[in-house]
This record gives sequence, structure tokens and C-alpha cells, in this order.
Amino acid sequence: MNPKIHARHRKQLMRMVGAGGIAILPSTPVRTRNRDVDYPFRQDSDFFYLSGFPEPEGVVVLVPGRAQGEYILFCRDKDLEQEIWHGRRCGPECAKSQYLADDAFPIEDIDDILPGLLEHSERVYYTMGLDPNFDKRVMDWVNSLRNQSRSGGHVPYEFVSLDYLLHDMRLFKSRDELRLMKKAAKISVEAHKRAMKICKPGMYEYQLDAEILHEFQFNGATWAYPSIVGGGANTCILHYTENNQVLKDGDLVLIDAGAEYQGYDADITRAFPVNGKYTPAQKEIFDLVVQANLDAIKQVKPGNHWNDPHHAAVKTLTKGMVELGLLKGTVAKLIKEEAYKKYYMHRTGHWLGMDVHDVGDYKVDEEWRLLEPGMVLTIEPGLYIPHGSRGAKRWWDIGVRIEDDVVVTKDGHEVLTDSLPKTTEEIEALMAS
Ligand code: GLY
Ligand code: MN
Ligand code: MN
Repeated sequence: MNPKIHARHRKQLMRMVGAGGIAILPSTPVRTRNRDVDYPFRQDSDFFYLSGFPEPEGVVVLVPGRAQGEYILFCRDKDLEQEIWHGRRCGPECAKSQYLADDAFPIEDIDDILPGLLEHSERVYYTMGLDPNFDKRVMDWVNSLRNQSRSGGHVPYEFVSLDYLLHDMRLFKSRDELRLMKKAAKISVEAHKRAMKICKPGMYEYQLDAEILHEFQFNGATWAYPSIVGGGANTCILHYTENNQVLKDGDLVLIDAGAEYQGYDADITRAFPVNGKYTPAQKEIFDLVVQANLDAIKQVKPGNHWNDPHHAAVKTLTKGMVELGLLKGTVAKLIKEEAYKKYYMHRTGHWLGMDVHDVGDYKVDEEWRLLEPGMVLTIEPGLYIPHGSRGAKRWWDIGVRIEDDVVVTKDGHEVLTDSLPKTTEEIEALMAS
């Protein structure tokens, strides 16, 4: 990944932190899975956003205006024996040459060096509460200065939450970031297509999951979140991840799966017939959700509120449910009383970026946020009609969500996941090909 992308992020953050401030970010701690096996390491999104540095046991320190260098990276030192067992380490020299750190030190030296950097700072920008062990170390460094203050040392007097600045920055994606998100979307589209083409009655949900994962990993990506592959009744479980049931003739299968490519995520859902042909009842629900998806996407443009796409989806779904006979009453009243929540119980989307449910506030001063160019969000209306729903037997066990990834542009929007079939005709044609 081009290290200049991260250099730009650091520069922008340091402009906001300003002289007298110091920002401190640790990498994600390594977690044990069982005995000698760790969970696969995934770098902290904030840390990666500012450094691009992929290893554990790192600490990014930014000190705007520091004459000897503003960007200091603590990382694991080179250690030939450890590297033979556990893999290559970058080390401080490569942290400078490859990751453009102004200064880099072995992580073991942090207790000796960091108090000295804090001593020249007035404000500490740090996100408290993510890692209690690291929180304690930050406090220990500050306390070590307090203890010395009687002999004239300086102690920073202000603690500022770093995510407040950083997460607003992350909400607006640069051209470089959008390029990566497009790639994540493209890989994910191919993965969904692969699953649609290979699906047939008698396969297991985990076999489609494996096809999706194959497409991700074959293209240098991984999953952004564990894939949801649910057939029949499982289509109505929003975050179903057991993926261990057989896919039956006549049922729908819902797949919610997205790739993570170089730290950036996609998040896509489609629901398709296991045997390649929608039943009339499935088509009724599906067509309605497609319409809600299209109506919501139309609302994605600068100047509209965050809530406008959700509002449009709720309106279309409620109207359609009345027409089908799933809900009874006037559309306005059913919306006001939130009767639609019986079959549409989640919101229409979320921010998307380095985290699948990405950072960024949805409201500003109690008002829904205005959409602005560079923001990326999902549009994911759905309808879920579980077995036993009164007066809805025709549609029992039909769960449909249609989720696309959308960038707000200067003139409106761009759908990153546009090339994935969305209508029943398009999906049936792909499955038959
Ligand atoms: N894949 C999680 C979601 O759609 O929000
Ligand atoms: Mn989503
Ligand atoms: Mn999703």
C-alpha cells in the first residue's frame, strides 16, 4: 500500500492536534485462541489509517512541530531467532524507510522514551477504554512525570479523546481510499456471483460460505465480517452465522458477505432461490425489497439527511406490505406507529469504511447529519417473515435483504456494488448461465 496515503492522514490529523499536542495510538493486542494458537491478527483501524503498519506490538506517536521528527513509531525489534519461528519483523530501520516514520524505536524502549515526549506536551490525544492494559501504561507514564514535577518537570494538563477528531476524518474517504473500497466491492460482487452460480439443492450453507471465502482469498482479500449464509427459515435470522444447514429445493438462501481489501470493507446482501427460480410468493416479497432499495438509493445525495434513505425505504415497504395484505391500515398511520417493524426491524444502512459498521456520527447537534461527498454508506432494506407469522402463511420463512454500498458524490451517488445482479430476472439469468 502506498505509504503516502497514511502520511496524508497523519498530516491532516496533526494539523488539528496542533503544537503542544501529542497523539498516542497502540496497535490491537494479540489474543490467544487456545494454548499456543492466537486469533488471526487484524490491525486496529485507527492505527492502520495513520500508519499502514501491519504488525502487532506497535505504538504510533504523533508530536506536531517536534523538531527531531513528528512521527515516532515504536515496533518490535529485529530478532533473527523469533523471525525464524514466527515470521519477519520490520524493525525500526524499515519502519523509517518503508513506513516513513521520522523516528522509530524498539517497543521495549517505550517506557524510557515516551515520558520524555509527554513532558513537552500540554494535551494528550488518546482513546481511553479500548485496552485497559494500555490505558494503565499511559497513566503510569503521566504519573512518572507527576512524581518528577517537584523537581521542575512539566505534566500535560489536558486529556482529549482522539476518536472525536480521527473518526470524523475517517468518515470522508479520499480518492485513494475509494479506490480500495471499489476493489473490495468488486471482489465481493464476484464472490456473490460465484455462490449464485454454484448453488443447488442439497448443498450445505457452509459450502456456499467456502465459495465466497475462496473468491475473497484468491484475490488477496479476507472477510470484513463472518459471512451470513442462511437458507429457508434461517433467512429470517438477521445475524445468522452458524451456516451449517442443508439448502433445500424451493427455499431462498440469503447471503450477507463482504470482503476486506487492504483494510477497507464491502458489505453486500442478496437473497436467491436455491433451485434458481423464485416462487411467486418469494418474488412478491423480493420485488418489494428491490423497489425499497432503489427508492432509498435515490435519496443518497449531498444535502439530504442521513435518515432520508431510511424514510424512503420504510415508505415503500409499508405501502407494499399493505398492498400484499401483510399489514392492514393506512400507510401514514402504520409508519407513525412503526407497525412495519414487525417485518422490517432494522435500519436501512450504516457508514462503511475500514470497519463494516464504520465510525462517524449519525447526528450532529441532535439533528440527522447531512450527506456530503466522500461519505460511504450501505443501503440495505429487507423484509423477514418468520414461520408462524399470523395472516402471512403464504410468505413464511421468506427473508430478503438487498444491500448495496453507495458513495455520496458531488452530483448524487455512485453504487459500488452495481455490477451484482439485483432483480429476480437478472439473478435467475445468472443462475441459469
Ligand atoms: N453485515 C452486517 C450488516 O449488514 O450490517
Ligand atoms: Mn450492512
Ligand atoms: Mn451486510
